[in-house]
Amino acid sequence: MSREIRIAPSLLSADFAKLGEEVRAVIAAGADLIHFDVMDNHYVPNLTVGPLVCQAIKPHSTVPIDVHLMVKPVDALVPLFAQAGAGIISFHPEASEHVHRTIQLIRSQGCKAGLVLNPATPLAVLDHVLEDLDLVLVMSVNPGFGGQAFIASALRKIEAIRRRIASTGKPIWLEVDGGVKRDNARAIAAAGADTLVAGSAVFTGTRDVAAYRDAIAAIRGEALEAA
Ligand code: DX5
Ligand code: ZN
Repeated sequence: MSREIRIAPSLLSADFAKLGEEVRAVIAAGADLIHFDVMDNHYVPNLTVGPLVCQAIKPHSTVPIDVHLMVKPVDALVPLFAQAGAGIISFHPEASEHVHRTIQLIRSQGCKAGLVLNPATPLAVLDHVLEDLDLVLVMSVNPGFGGQAFIASALRKIEAIRRRIASTGKPIWLEVDGGVKRDNARAIAAAGADTLVAGSAVFTGTRDVAAYRDAIAAIRGEALEAA
């Protein structure tokens, strides 16, 4: 197998007092995407940032901003994040009354659309919409917090989704989010993932470009062994 691997550092573990600097640092360190976690204290039990903060970091980013909406309802926020500079917008099907409509809405705003599967979400949510997606995001932790342990059953799920994506013949990305570290990146890529979110594993060490570069290179290196 030969596959490109993208690393998406999650700003959830960055220093929120200097987000612009953190964005520039992880990009200098090799980030392919900036993963931007939006939590609403309703769909998930935590509260983070909205479109204003996305707009504020946008001038600091030379890579696409990968917005992960953990909010309910979803639709009203889609145009706001599109205007704030999102490149990708992903959402949870449980949070939308009309999943197909939300996918079309995201695409109509000029963004790539992703659907997120929680650890207990069955693959059946991909029925009838997979070919309309640019990305499937598999949660390998329950959404809401950084720094949680990787749930091993996600690997079998990634394998199954990779097979389904292959059967479409379309270049749909398969992203994994939660507990991604250098010591499990190879298994995650071997299962079929091509895009790895990493929060606490990237924003670590001396919290500077050198530490971020080391962390990103280690995760990418492990993943490429399997890709
Ligand atoms: C969790 C978020 C993740 C989080 C991952 O709900 O969606 O993006 O930042 O953090 P780590 O990589 O530390 O598990
Ligand atoms: Zn996320």
